Amino acid sequence: MKAAPSLLSCNFAKMGEEVQRVDRAGADWIHLDVMDGHFVPNLTIGPAIISAVRPYTNLPFDVHLMIDDPLDYIDAFADAGADIITFHVESKSDTEKTIEKIKSRGVKPGLVIKPKTPAEVVYEYLDQVYVIVVMTVEPGFGGQSFMADMLPKVTAIKEECARRGLEVLVEVDGGISEKNACFAAAAGVDVCVSGTGIFKAKDAAAAISAIKKGI
Ligand code: DX5
Ligand code: ZN
Repeated sequence: MKAAPSLLSCNFAKMGEEVQRVDRAGADWIHLDVMDGHFVPNLTIGPAIISAVRPYTNLPFDVHLMIDDPLDYIDAFADAGADIITFHVESKSDTEKTIEKIKSRGVKPGLVIKPKTPAEVVYEYLDQVYVIVVMTVEPGFGGQSFMADMLPKVTAIKEECARRGLEVLVEVDGGISEKNACFAAAAGVDVCVSGTGIFKAKDAAAAISAIKKGI
């Protein structure tokens, strides 16, 4: 599996150095959580911070939008240096228009589903996206407990893709650490986001390596 450290759990006063630390430790992608205080009850970072940390690594920036109207902000996040932009199927924006807008900027699109949203909701978009993100916590905060009961959604999405001959990555986000990455691997996950599990680990390289092995 790929490991995508979430900067939500990094030292915000040293974001550039924190990105370099996980890059050296073996990260595959950098996950950036954008929250607007409406779609989720928390506020985090926006395009200005993303463009400020962009020069610190060449790793892909995986920007997770937890905002009411993602369509209105695609240009801003593409300009800031996003390589992948994922947004919630539960947001207010039209899903197809938003996917098209992301693609038109040369960025890879992805759809995210909250814990209460069934996997089937994304099936009609599987031929249009690069990645599907299955939330394994309620979005809004880092450091919550992993919801293992979300993993059957991962398997269902992977099976649906295989049945239709589509190559779509499935990412899980929330509560993942070296302790439970084995369950994600067994379910067929391609990418594990991990905030606390990597940034608060004693040894980030060991945590990343264990997550990637999924053992
Ligand atoms: C939650 C975010 C996640 C989260 C991951 O809303 O989307 O990316 O911060 O952090 P941990 O791994 O600490 O749950
Ligand atoms: Zn996230």
